[in-house]
Amino acid sequence: MCNRYLWSPEPRPDGHDRRLARVVPLADVGCNAGIAQEEMLRVSAETLTVVDNRTGERYEVPIQDGTVKAMDFRRMRTSADDFGLMVYDPAFTNTASCRSEITFIDGDAGVLEYRGYPIEELAEKSTYLETAFLIVHGHLPSAAELKEWTHNITFHTFVHENVRRFMEGFRYDAHPMGVLVSSVAALSTFYPDAKDVDDAASRDLQTWRLIAKVPTLAAFAYRHSRGLPYVYPDNDLTFAGNFASMLWRMSESSYVASSVIERALNVLFILHADHEQNCSANAMRAVGSSRPDPFVATAAAAAALYGPLHGGANEAVLLMLNEIGDVRNVSEFVKHVKAGERRLMGFGHRVYKNYDPRARIIKATADEVFDVTGRNPLLDIALELERIALEDDYFIERKLYPNVDFYSGLIYQALGFPVEMFPVLFAIPRTAGWVAQWREMVTDPEQKIARPRQVYTGARGQKYVELGRR
Ligand code: CMC
Repeated sequence: MCNRYLWSPEPRPDGHDRRLARVVPLADVGCNAGIAQEEMLRVSAETLTVVDNRTGERYEVPIQDGTVKAMDFRRMRTSADDFGLMVYDPAFTNTASCRSEITFIDGDAGVLEYRGYPIEELAEKSTYLETAFLIVHGHLPSAAELKEWTHNITFHTFVHENVRRFMEGFRYDAHPMGVLVSSVAALSTFYPDAKDVDDAASRDLQTWRLIAKVPTLAAFAYRHSRGLPYVYPDNDLTFAGNFASMLWRMSESSYVASSVIERALNVLFILHADHEQNCSANAMRAVGSSRPDPFVATAAAAAALYGPLHGGANEAVLLMLNEIGDVRNVSEFVKHVKAGERRLMGFGHRVYKNYDPRARIIKATADEVFDVTGRNPLLDIALELERIALEDDYFIERKLYPNVDFYSGLIYQALGFPVEMFPVLFAIPRTAGWVAQWREMVTDPEQKIARPRQVYTGARGQKYVELGRR
């Protein structure tokens, strides 16, 4: 009996997954026949040979785009009633969950591109709204497309008055990220038409609504935390200019932000617009995969962003710099980090094993902002931390470099934002990325409801004991 298996490019007869290669026993093609040997050689360059030492069986698994399909391993069984092999990957450290055309990252080289355009060029030449169009639609807009896109987003900046009213119900010291997450979810109740996720026109409409309304909700959350009256959108202004107006306008009839600040907001928004399959994009896709409307999926993504290991890191950086308090305390703090007692917030990244390209751009932008706002005194502590860390073996060996959050908080603080607003400022531009990831997911025929497997390690067959006898 020949137990060798051969990959076949033919579609599987059960039609289960038309792109999943069929693994057939060599016996089916003639085990010792020259034709099978030839076939083995022909496919071997793009396959992985797996020998299951439990059974001695050997399998050819196709390799496509540098990946093997986890489902190809299910065929590796010890007996007919064995479930088959699964791959175990907690936190998805080496698992591609989708094919995507949106964002490219080369973590070793420190490269980030949206739809093939380098982040450095977009940060220098583009605006946030133009970049959002690029991320969502896949190409840079023509002048007419940009005009229409800008009109559509601007047209949807207002929120229903009831949204405003229920936001007033939050406690005076409510964290603005909690307010944002809740109010984005609540948009679902205002737009029942958004449930039609298979309708392309509806998807476009929800895209405009989300990109347009999240800054309004974010600004309301900020004004609420300050006890200030909410400021309605000013649709004569640019996207960034309007956001600045909703944040900072007081008694003036219109608010015009400094061009440096408006440009800095554009750059920060561009840099944060998407970052492929990060924790919040993964949440957007996972929640969206059960086909709810995109407002609740965006709320889930924003909730994922809230955590200190993701979008909450810039808040954590500022708290850390405040705690260090003085340049003279930096080396002592680094000792605690190296002892594993602390994390150097704003350092390290799951994907970047080089300087995060966004951190470099933000560092340059910070200097421009400080010319207008005055230098943030915490900058010296940050620079000293970076200097020591980049020379230290602990950080070099682990490839820990500053990430996007290391300097962004310093700019936000110089602009007068309290630290609680930092993740909110991240969520505004990331909405374009979440929406683009969601649109790609719902239209991808390979996607299904996201439902990982588990390795069950708990008890089995327990006998229920009545409460009084435990
Ligand atoms: N400070 C000190 N040590 C660190 C840090 C850090 N910031 N990050 C990683 N390490 C160490 C970690 O202790 C481990 O060491 P060892 O091998 O001796 O156990 C090693 O580096 C690998 O760390 P890891 O936790 O396995 O890496 P990860 O890929 O799971 O974590 C990370 C990535 C971003 C969660 C982590 O680097 C971290 O916690 N950084 C601080 C929080 C932060 O800045 N987050 C923002 C990320 S960028 C914005 C975004 O995408 O949201």
